[in-house]
Amino acid sequence: PVSIDDISATLKTIGLDTVPQQPNTYPALNPFDIYRSHVAELVAQVIGVEASKIYPALQTTTKTDYGDLQLAVPALRIKGKDMKEFTKEIAEKFPDSPLVLPPVVSGIALQFFFKPEPLTSLVMPSVLKSGSAYGWNTNVGLRDPADPAAGRKKIIVEFSSPNIAKPFHAGHLRSTIIGGFIANLHEGAGWDVIRMNYLGDWGKQYGVLAIGFDLYGSEEELVKNPIGHLYDVYVKISKKAAEEADLIKSIKADIVGLQEKGESTAELEARIQKVEAEGVDQAARDYFKRMVDGEQVALGIWKRFRDLSIEKYKQTYARLNIRYDEYSGESQVKDESMDLAAKLMHEKGVSEESDGAVIVDLTKYSKKLGKALVKKKDGTSLYLTRDIGAIFERLEKFKFDRMIYVVASQQDLHLAQLFKIVEAIGRKDLAEKCQHINFGMVMGMSTRKGTAKFLDDILRDVGEKMHEVMRTNEKKYQQVDDPERTADILGISAVMVQDMRGKRINHYTFDMELMTSFEGDTGPYLQYAHARLCSIYRKAVEAVPDVAAVDLTTVDLTLLKEPHAVDLVRQLAAFPDVITTTLKTLEPTTVLMYLFKMAHSSSSSYMHLQVVGQEREVMLARLALYVAARRVLHNGMRLLGLDPLERM
Ligand code: ARG
Repeated sequence: PVSIDDISATLKTIGLDTVPQQPNTYPALNPFDIYRSHVAELVAQVIGVEASKIYPALQTTTKTDYGDLQLAVPALRIKGKDMKEFTKEIAEKFPDSPLVLPPVVSGIALQFFFKPEPLTSLVMPSVLKSGSAYGWNTNVGLRDPADPAAGRKKIIVEFSSPNIAKPFHAGHLRSTIIGGFIANLHEGAGWDVIRMNYLGDWGKQYGVLAIGFDLYGSEEELVKNPIGHLYDVYVKISKKAAEEADLIKSIKADIVGLQEKGESTAELEARIQKVEAEGVDQAARDYFKRMVDGEQVALGIWKRFRDLSIEKYKQTYARLNIRYDEYSGESQVKDESMDLAAKLMHEKGVSEESDGAVIVDLTKYSKKLGKALVKKKDGTSLYLTRDIGAIFERLEKFKFDRMIYVVASQQDLHLAQLFKIVEAIGRKDLAEKCQHINFGMVMGMSTRKGTAKFLDDILRDVGEKMHEVMRTNEKKYQQVDDPERTADILGISAVMVQDMRGKRINHYTFDMELMTSFEGDTGPYLQYAHARLCSIYRKAVEAVPDVAAVDLTTVDLTLLKEPHAVDLVRQLAAFPDVITTTLKTLEPTTVLMYLFKMAHSSSSSYMHLQVVGQEREVMLARLALYVAARRVLHNGMRLLGLDPLERM
């Protein structure tokens, strides 16, 4: 990477003797930090206010037309001045700077444009030398930036969390994509990240599943396709259970009929008892009780289902570049943890008895939170109870600084109840470490053959569609090494980018045509932009083979003068700030929109800034620019969880 000495040397050649550096800024990692400090120092000279007060008021702009940095003068909170006049006054008195042009007055704001040549000389080496680290500042995750020995902050990102023997639905897909991104984001920023999958793997329905497997299961199928097979079994046994319930209902109706006629119902009552006693429901209850009691045989079967499902999930997650540090799940929450939480709730007067069950009345905090059941009449725990136990267990085990639950907005109430209960127990400190990252629904998610049940089906289907799209260009298709794999990656990118395009909370419609198009802001477009940047380099080397040996950090960057080149450099400079912003918004779209803008700038440059056929020094400078652009696109795509393709 680039060191502060490199920056200092570059600045000296530009005419600055010291590196502008306000507290807690990182000139070697973020070019914008240099400029913010520099402008803050100059404005400070003009108006006699400390630079540290001016620094935070310097904002990035939404469009490069408005400058690279903007200062809203009222944000300086200086009293007794006419703001318009004051803005003009600062502009007039602003000294000559080697780094920025004289500020442009826009009402009560000042726009600062970076001088192109110094910017290029600062940014380009930074991108090229930092490589995959460009954009990242691993100091963010330090407990104490002044004392690296104090270690890194720890974050648990809980995401995906599907339910065994149930479909992997759109909510799980979004949680997987968004959660993977949030984990990457923190890892890049130097946090110690634990990726956790909290499986839905406990409850009476797993008794139902075991009974079902006895009746309909096949060892062979189970091993071959555990997730699909267990789901089939679950559907069959649920059908049987429903039929039994219907039968009981109809017998009950008959009983009412007999009673009206004054006839004996004993025989029918006996039949109900028999159906119930021999039925799925009772068997499942008994079975689950054996599991709860820790009986080895019952647990062994359930554990096999769980283990085989996890193995299969792992393969699918790998296609999305996701691996977990921990497969936890509802089954893993210990009774002791739940008992301890129950005791605390009782002692603090948080919980109360109601009809033999235990509830927490949260309406006293907020009407919306309602009353939450934490223990059923029969003493069994619930989804919420297990989450309460789990939160304390995780704190004990990981001593995390922060925990993020990536769960659909349908569960807003559930998580709000969870955090409020933790707070009510007297652990506001713990509740404050936790955050629910929610997201909206996906409409119409289906495969071309029918309604989608499993992630694998969706990915296969989209991959096949991409394969068809690729085949429409036979010439290009011939050049792709492994078309199957490429189509698979393109398909996954299509799904992921469509998912991350909007704000998380928005619903969107799963649209196979739109997402697989190479036009518009799609995954395939982003991949194409990356592959194209790669091909520029390949073609340059084909045309002038010794280019491969040139160290692009040493080329003459002053040759990058054209507006397109300058515009692209300005965008590359902004990437570290995009990541900083994203760490606040936790919105994938923040990164994605930046990448699309950058990709558009690159593609509109090709015509104006050709590489092959130029005079050697110009060729090398432009090549360096495209290699830098490719690097930033690559880093951004990786952050989102995409596999950047080199050819397609
Ligand atoms: N398995 C749950 C579901 O599919 C999601 C789990 C969310 N996480 C949690 N800690 N409750 O709905």
